[in-house]
Amino acid sequence: MDKILIIGAGGQIGTELTVYLRNIYGSNNVIASDIRATLHPELMEGGPFIRMDAMDSRQVYQVIQKEKVDQVYFLAAILSAVCEKNPEMAWDINMGCLNSVLRIANELKFKMFVPSSIGAFGDSTPKRKTPQLTIQRPNSIYGVTKVAGELLCDYYHARYGIDVRGLRFPGIISNLVPPGGGTTDYAVDIYHKALRCQRYTCYLRGDTYLDMMYMPDALKAAATLMEAGHDKLRFHNAYNVSAMSFCPEMIAASIRKHIPAFTLDFAIDPVRQCIADSWPDSMDDSAAREDWGWSPEYDLDMMSKDMITVLRERFRRKEHEEAELLS
Ligand code: SER
Repeated sequence: MDKILIIGAGGQIGTELTVYLRNIYGSNNVIASDIRATLHPELMEGGPFIRMDAMDSRQVYQVIQKEKVDQVYFLAAILSAVCEKNPEMAWDINMGCLNSVLRIANELKFKMFVPSSIGAFGDSTPKRKTPQLTIQRPNSIYGVTKVAGELLCDYYHARYGIDVRGLRFPGIISNLVPPGGGTTDYAVDIYHKALRCQRYTCYLRGDTYLDMMYMPDALKAAATLMEAGHDKLRFHNAYNVSAMSFCPEMIAASIRKHIPAFTLDFAIDPVRQCIADSWPDSMDDSAAREDWGWSPEYDLDMMSKDMITVLRERFRRKEHEEAELLS
């Protein structure tokens, strides 16, 4: 059984991916690592954890060597809106860490998963049915790091034969750990606010279409791509994957099927609106479907039903526990 290291396991995707991969590969074969000392309890209690700074390439090297790691999921990155606030840090973390892990991969020989994003596209990219191979001239620093990252992975694959695979993830919606500082975060936040106060103020215009995906599909996509036969992959890296395309008005309508009183209003954030306007409305993910059988399970209404059921139960339990503490 392969030994897997997840770098950046404490984030939105990393937390659930660690749990998911432990179920497949066995708890002791999946090591979570993060710069944070304490992560979600489900992750800390479910298997090995190493506190590690992805910027410290010596430590990363030592951990990978000592643990005899066969696969690395590289999830240490900062999202689009935070990147805009600090472009230098964006480059250092999103590119610097990736560069050093690729160098280590070349020496110690392991397989890698490196996520890219819808952020790798820009204003001059076709917006509808965005092809797998197309113009990529993003105008956000996040996008610049994503395109450069895709190219760097391609280079290490072509030049050194490193088996590095990746997806262009759309906005990911989940309910365990919130995303931090992305442009698509509204699509997570809206469910929390709908349940807590039946109202949400959105920072994107109501007709801003973006690709999205529910977390269970994102986990399946990453694990399936990593297990796919090498000879099946025409692109190897940076596959477009999508599950749905919607705008804030559409997610609000889907929520109203469960919470009829829900209202949506707007306070537009020009930075995030500008980023969202430069991203695709809907990607063409036919290459992923053809090459390694990509097929999402959740559409918007199925996701809303699940999100609302899970969050409602969690909020109810929390209220119950608080009430018990007070009594
Ligand atoms: N979800 C990311 C963001 O909004 C895009 O990949 O930054």
